[in-house]
Order: sequence, then structure tokens, then C-alpha cells
Amino acid sequence: MSFGDEFQRLSKYLRESLKGKGLDWGNKPSLYKKYSGAKETAELPGAECEGGKPLYQTIQQRRSVRNYQDTAVDGKTLSQVLWAAQGITLATEYHQFRAAPSAGALYPIETYCVINNVEGYKPGLYHYQVPYHTLLLIKEGSFGSDLARAALGQKMLRDSAFNLVWAAVIERSKWKYDQRAYRYIYLDAGHIAQNAALAAAACGLGSCQVGAFFDEEVNRVIDVDGEAEFAIYMSSFGIPKV
Ligand SMILES: Cc1cc2nc3c(=O)[nH]c(=O)nc-3n(C[C@H](O)[C@H](O)[C@H](O)COP(=O)(O)O)c2cc1C
Repeated sequence: MSFGDEFQRLSKYLRESLKGKGLDWGNKPSLYKKYSGAKETAELPGAECEGGKPLYQTIQQRRSVRNYQDTAVDGKTLSQVLWAAQGITLATEYHQFRAAPSAGALYPIETYCVINNVEGYKPGLYHYQVPYHTLLLIKEGSFGSDLARAALGQKMLRDSAFNLVWAAVIERSKWKYDQRAYRYIYLDAGHIAQNAALAAAACGLGSCQVGAFFDEEVNRVIDVDGEAEFAIYMSSFGIPKV
């Protein structure tokens, strides 16, 4: 049996062996990544819940788009896509719920934004700061080509206006789900990417999901260690070439 088959077998919930385990509330991992040291914040326009194409039309029209115009996208559109991916949509006393569902509301996925060509934003690697709906500039520079190289030469990541890279902080989900967490992070990322793709389509942008990449190379682009946190999915976004 290969390790994939073995993982699927070993991570099954079985009626005879599933015991409710108490959760270690004192050691619940933080749901938000924090950076130390001074970093530049890039504000985003406030996200809006109105406008854009209607939902059913958007679903009908969404296609993977791999060829983009060499035209800048505006900050408003970037903001809408980030909000649809991970924005907070309901804050209660105990939880801050986000736009996409997450197993156990543990939100193990971090969103990085590689900006190539967005009006008013320097090209660079940014981290999406969920609680504030802002971007934190992690490093300035053109990283689209590095990302394209890391993704088996898929040039759309170089030619896009921006790319989102999703990385899992596995401990957040393992805290509750142990090895089954590895199923849930991919499901979470799928929901997030679909929300982003639909928001992009509603704003007239094209996007393409990317699962084919050299993991460690993408980890290096987004400055994560590949163990506690590792890249699992990406999408490119831009104005479609007609
Ligand atoms: C998990 C996943 C990984 C994907 N990886 C890639 C990829 O690496 N490169 C690419 O060009 N398209 C990729 N795609 C896009 C698919 O090729 C595309 O969704 C499919 O052809 C159906 O077309 P549609 O998205 O226009 O409906 C991926 C899609 C998914 C869901």
C-alpha cells in the first residue's frame, strides 16, 4: 500500500475507535500569524457586500483564465478578492467567522499576496492581515517570475496582476483533529480559493488555481519554513486577454 492509501486508511473516523478527546484550551494555537519587527502596512479599501455580477451568473461564467492583459488591477478589486477569501464576516464574543468555512473554525490557512501589477501597491510579497483587512509588506520586489518557476514554469503567475498563495499552519488544526487535520487543510484551502475565484469573476477578473508546484521553492518565495507552515495552493489573477 502506498503512503497516500495508507494515510487515507489511517485518518478515517471509525465508530469503534473514535473517542471524544478533551481539548487543551490552555494551549490553543493563535488563529492569527503575527510578524515581529517593523513592517510597512498597505491599507486596502473597505470591502463591500454589494455590487459585482450576480452569483449564479458568476458561477456560470467562471473559467480558469491563464492569459492576462499587461494592465494594472485596482486596489478595490484586490480588496474584494482578499475579503472573499479570508475576510471576517461575523464577529461574536468567542469567534471571528470568515468568508469561507473552516473545520472547527480553526482557520489554519494563511494568505500571502504576490503583487505584480496593482495600482498603488509596490510589487512584492505581502501577508494578508485577516483581523485588520490590510496587507503587510514582507519583502519588496518582483517575485512573480520566481513563483512561475516554482510552479513548473507556469507563466500566468508571472504575467498576472497578483497571485494568492495559501499556506497551512498545521498545528492550528492538529490541536483538535490530530492527523485528520491533513484532510481538512486541503478542504479549507479549496473553499478559500473558490471564494476568491468567484469574487474575481464577479469583478471581471480571470483567475486560475495552481496545485502543481515545487513545494520548497514556493515556501522560499513566501518565507515559510515548510514544516510548521507550508504552501498548499495558489491562484493567479488578472484582467483576461481577449
Ligand atoms: C486542485 C486544482 C489544481 C489545479 N492546478 C492547476 C495547475 O497547476 N495549472 C493549471 O493551469 N490549472 C490548474 N487547475 C485548473 C484546472 O485545470 C481547471 O479548473 C479545469 O481544467 C477545469 O476548468 P475550469 O476551471 O475553467 O472550469 C487546478 C484546479 C484545481 C481544482
